Amino acid sequence: MGLDVLGVSKTFDTRKGRVAALRDVSLRVGRGRFVSLIGPTGCGKSTLLRIVAGLVEADGGTVSIFGEPPERATAAKHVGFVPQSPALLPWRTVLDNVRVPFQVNRKADSVLGRRFRDPVEVLESFGLGDVLHSRPDQLSGGMQQKVAIARAFVFDPSILLMDEPFSALDELTRERQRHELLDIWQSDQKTVLFVTHSVPEAVALSDAVVVMSAQPGRVRAVIPVNLPRPRGELVEATDVFHDLERRVRSELRVAWNDNHA
Ligand SMILES: Nc1ncnc2c1ncn2[C@@H]1O[C@H](COP(=O)(O)OP(=O)(O)OP(=O)(O)O)[C@@H](O)[C@H]1O
Ligand SMILES: [Mg+2]
Repeated sequence: MGLDVLGVSKTFDTRKGRVAALRDVSLRVGRGRFVSLIGPTGCGKSTLLRIVAGLVEADGGTVSIFGEPPERATAAKHVGFVPQSPALLPWRTVLDNVRVPFQVNRKADSVLGRRFRDPVEVLESFGLGDVLHSRPDQLSGGMQQKVAIARAFVFDPSILLMDEPFSALDELTRERQRHELLDIWQSDQKTVLFVTHSVPEAVALSDAVVVMSAQPGRVRAVIPVNLPRPRGELVEATDVFHDLERRVRSELRVAWNDNHA
């Protein structure tokens, strides 16, 4: 068991008409697995994450998170969501931003049998021990992103949803961050659904890469990544890695052409 998305569809009614964002999307992320979603802009990746996080309701289909529907899983703090922009509160310190979920949900303390992690400890594990009392605008974009990820870790969720967490970073910082994330994931073994536009990032991190086509977003291909773990930075220089990159790219090309034909 893990995350199961079955036949999910979503249409938005807008002033300009109806936008079919997702059509009949199914995917599975097994317990402790890391799966990436990649696809052209506007193909519904963020919408899918928001549906899984219980923030948007699907028109059809079902989502099961370790056997629970999204609203229930989210209320029980089983779901950690890192949205596409870090959404930190600018007037609060780093530490207070990470404490927000506790304050928003006072009942959180009483959620049955759950242990929560000490926000200071979590921030230290992300290398943010020195900036606990800084405000977000005093940090670089990359550090702000880390705060947003740390915030998702305090509830020790069973599943982490991350929407392009490294998109604002320069290439080298981005590579470093993905290997830091790999280290944390390796020791934590959380179930992760990760959205990215970067092919090497998707391959380096994942057990499988789901390529979506747009629009409406559908699953175009699921490419298993059988690279051994733990994966160091050297894996990205191997032929197997480059072959996988090529496969993802060629599926993406077809996905893109689907749209612009
Ligand atoms: N709340 C909303 N109301 C109306 N339309 C929406 C809403 N949310 C998303 N959409 C539309 O649904 C489609 C999918 O959007 P979504 O943000 O999920 O794409 P995405 O794959 O995350 O794109 P990107 O890669 O640019 O982040 C787009 O056409 C978008 O305009
Ligand atoms: Mg998005």
